[in-house]
Amino acid sequence: MKTKDWFTDWFNTPYYHILYKNRDNSDAQLFMKNITEFLELPKSTHILDLPCGKGRHSVFLNTLGYKVTGGDLSKNSIEFAKKFENETLSFKAHDMRKAFNNTYDAIFNLFTSFGYFEDDSEDILILKNIKNGLNENGYFVFDFLNADKVKANLVTEETKIVDNITFNIKREITNGFIVKIISFFADGKNHSYIERVKFLDLEKMTSYFEKVGFTIKNVFGDYNLNNFDSKTSNRLILVAK
Ligand SMILES: C[S@@+](CC[C@H](N)C(=O)[O-])C[C@H]1O[C@@H](n2cnc3c(N)ncnc32)[C@H](O)[C@@H]1O
Repeated sequence: MKTKDWFTDWFNTPYYHILYKNRDNSDAQLFMKNITEFLELPKSTHILDLPCGKGRHSVFLNTLGYKVTGGDLSKNSIEFAKKFENETLSFKAHDMRKAFNNTYDAIFNLFTSFGYFEDDSEDILILKNIKNGLNENGYFVFDFLNADKVKANLVTEETKIVDNITFNIKREITNGFIVKIISFFADGKNHSYIERVKFLDLEKMTSYFEKVGFTIKNVFGDYNLNNFDSKTSNRLILVAK
């Protein structure tokens, strides 16, 4: 089991996609519809979905009429997403710790795709890249777990059976990280992977955003864009400029 750079391996395996295959795409679409309407994004908007995974938000945003670019570190996910490419939808492998070649009208970081790195400096570097990648008056939409609620309701052990694979999941909060250890037997051998996300609450994210010069415009707590409440909200969604 690898802790350092765990995200390079785990997200690139077929097992990650099997474990999360039942995640709710209708929720993702509802969120994209609500946020683009709330921001009144014109159809000419060029959106960067970073990281895009297999492209579920990108593809839907494109069907809403937007020009969309998706970027992700996982070469396997990008290869899959490329099947959906068209004149206004493209995908490329990209490490979000690197600066972009283009600029965009909006950048979306969705579904807890942040806080994977040890040092705060790397988190800040990503936010700086995003800020530099935005056109004037561009929006940044950040969708993360609600760390306070996760902590208060931590399920320390869980078993999930998906596609005949029994995933044993252990969760803990240590050294400022929410850690998931995922063990299972598949394809003739035992596997163990780690998923590790920094404990980033509203206060910490606000300080990150201030450091890079982002102004937070809205704080939502779910995909219906209800106000954030640290005790009850499922998500921490920030809109910044
Ligand atoms: C939780 S998934 C979410 C993906 C997508 N937003 C979605 O909702 O389906 C996180 C994604 O971050 C990608 N990722 C991890 N580290 C990255 C990095 N340094 N640069 C770009 N993408 C990265 C992973 O490959 C994975 O696809």
